[in-house]
Amino acid sequence: MATIHIDETKPLGRIAPEIYGHFSEHLGRCIYEGIFVKPDSGIPNVNGMRTDVVEALKEIRVPVLRWPGGCFADEYHWKDGIGPLEGRKRMVNTHWGGVVEDNSFGTHEFFELCRQLGCKTYVNGNVGSGTVQEMSEWVEYMTFDGVSPMAQLRETNGHKEPWRVDYFGVGNENWGCGGNMTPQYYANLYRRYQTYVRQYNHDAPIQKICGGPNVDDLKWTKKVLKTCFAHPHPKGAHGYMDGLSLHYYVHPGGWENKGSALEFSEEEFYTTMQKALYMEELIYLHGGVMDEYDPEKKIGLIVDEWGTWYDVEPGTNPGFLYQQNTMRDALVAAVTLNIFNNHCDRVKMACIAQMVNVLQAVLLTEGPQMIKTPTWHVFHMYRDHQGAQALPVKAEGVGTVGGEVMPAVQVSASVMENGEITVTAANLSMTESQTVRLALTAKKPERADGTLLAGEAHAHNTFDDPEAVKEQALAVTLDGDGAVFTLPPCGVAAVRLS
Ligand code: AHR
Repeated sequence: MATIHIDETKPLGRIAPEIYGHFSEHLGRCIYEGIFVKPDSGIPNVNGMRTDVVEALKEIRVPVLRWPGGCFADEYHWKDGIGPLEGRKRMVNTHWGGVVEDNSFGTHEFFELCRQLGCKTYVNGNVGSGTVQEMSEWVEYMTFDGVSPMAQLRETNGHKEPWRVDYFGVGNENWGCGGNMTPQYYANLYRRYQTYVRQYNHDAPIQKICGGPNVDDLKWTKKVLKTCFAHPHPKGAHGYMDGLSLHYYVHPGGWENKGSALEFSEEEFYTTMQKALYMEELIYLHGGVMDEYDPEKKIGLIVDEWGTWYDVEPGTNPGFLYQQNTMRDALVAAVTLNIFNNHCDRVKMACIAQMVNVLQAVLLTEGPQMIKTPTWHVFHMYRDHQGAQALPVKAEGVGTVGGEVMPAVQVSASVMENGEITVTAANLSMTESQTVRLALTAKKPERADGTLLAGEAHAHNTFDDPEAVKEQALAVTLDGDGAVFTLPPCGVAAVRLS
């Protein structure tokens, strides 16, 4: 039996709700079709936003949404996406399928989507092919409350009130698609561009996100922090940045031959789990460098792109990155979110890539139909962690899987203000059940219940069978200072103790 010791007497700190954030890029059918449809499309919508999609996203309490990219961000010119529809410029989306982008979803539409979702806004600016002036005017257009050319233009376009930009990303993957820059070159540009991300709303300053490394590129992290992290800084406690981004995708077969989303062997399954667990090492590595400059952990590690990335679904546009989503993906989400919870002192935001129809999507659509993926269910089961206090967890007697390299059960725990404790656990074995005992330190729980997501590793939802994988009640038995339950192979559980 695996015993998970939970110390509810020594909370680790608050789990930023933004760890449960999402990413939506102008890529394939994420924005267009997946979220935004023509008002007269026959698909129920409010101001173009699909009602089914918005409702499903509200159920998982999306805390923050990043837009417009991704690689797309560094070739996006925001002025093409405002004003009367018929006047909006059309362009080629060179990164993603070479399709025509008609700019019908632009700044106003993004803020309307976030309004409907009730979430924070994370706008990613263009450093790769945009000017400082263009970036600075975008910030003015979105947030200036007064008399100015951009505020006037916003009003002319139908929105007198400024919006609130919670986070602003200064470029994306500038080591690659965002300009193929060296770290020193980007770092110098970052200092310059961020200067003009003006703070017009002093009650709600924009948090500036500096473009961080790809996977384990510590050289990038060091150089960029050395050049850009200034603390204390006369203009603010955090100097030039509030966060540093990190991108990490799980490709079971490597970048060249990623592997199929639906057809995978036992070996590929365990490789996927191992690669998902690697996120923790990345947090230690980059977090270690960040500690050198920022020992007080004032800036956040912002994992604003993470998730599985397989070969595209056969027969679909290779540039659209459409893939199915199985219990294997649910486990990747469960493991990754547990890691973020356990490192909430440094990880302040994360955005799964991407929200609808692209990569590890929480929702898939086909015309008027929509399905929730196993990954959606994990976000749903984990929602009470948002804003709760993380609790230290220690595993004892947990077996190993995948040739002795990984723990069979991986967990995180938190306590809400009302005292209710949530423990989320993933069984990384493809074949064996695990009996799990949760043991609290001081408290004796009086009530215990839980939710389970389980199924064979390849199990997934389809438009013909949308509920093949869904949450069910989990039997949890009170046992002195804790509780006991059985976690089936590939199972994910959320247990509540009070
Ligand atoms: O999410 C797909 C792409 O992956 C993003 O556009 C880019 O930032 C990353 O390489």
